[in-house]
Amino acid sequence: MTDDEQSSELDVDRPALADQRGVDTVYGASEDSHLLAEAAVEGAKEGERALDIGTGSGYVAGALAEAGVDVVGTDLNPAACRQVHEAGISAVRANLLDPIRADAVDLVVFNPPYLPTDPETEWGDWMQAALSGGEDGRAVVDPFLADVGRVLQDDGRAFLLVSSLTGIDDVTEFAGEQGLNSSIVAEESFPFERLVVLRLTVE
Ligand SMILES: C[S@@+](CC[C@H](N)C(=O)[O-])C[C@H]1O[C@@H](n2cnc3c(N)ncnc32)[C@H](O)[C@@H]1O
Repeated sequence: MTDDEQSSELDVDRPALADQRGVDTVYGASEDSHLLAEAAVEGAKEGERALDIGTGSGYVAGALAEAGVDVVGTDLNPAACRQVHEAGISAVRANLLDPIRADAVDLVVFNPPYLPTDPETEWGDWMQAALSGGEDGRAVVDPFLADVGRVLQDDGRAFLLVSSLTGIDDVTEFAGEQGLNSSIVAEESFPFERLVVLRLTVE
């Protein structure tokens, strides 16, 4: 969406999701980013090819690059792509895995927008794209799960951040329906949510 389209949808009387979370146009690294980065680095090998979907500030991609992984970040948000590119990491503006050819990578990592969000409070700005997972929290997670197996090489793995707010069992059940095995490889609990990292492989 263009900046003009975004601002035309803004309602000045109500706080944007971005303001509610105290974050700027590009999602800054948070607890979820740290948990995913640690698990991804642990599960990666030097020289492997990786995609960081929804790369945001590029925090997870940067951690993989430091570990010697050949990583490309993707994001819908052009400002995120610019920021990551300026940090020296390749970035592509894309919806999820759309432009990626089959069997292209060893590793895919994704910290998705996952907060269940009432349509009434949807905003139409880039922070909504970073945070809102639609009514059930899985509006972006489910299409990702439906396609990720296609881009993974035979021994490929995906690492997906999931919150208890999104429904961890619902996500693993849908992953199974897409022919993916899943296991929890990292977790952290907070007063309001439990975060886990799922390791996904093609059955
Ligand atoms: C929770 S933020 C995570 C950012 C970063 N990976 C991190 O861990 O700090 C989610 C990111 O996904 C991006 N995003 C949302 N929907 C997307 C889609 N359909 N395709 C690609 N990126 C998307 C958002 O713009 C945002 O940068």
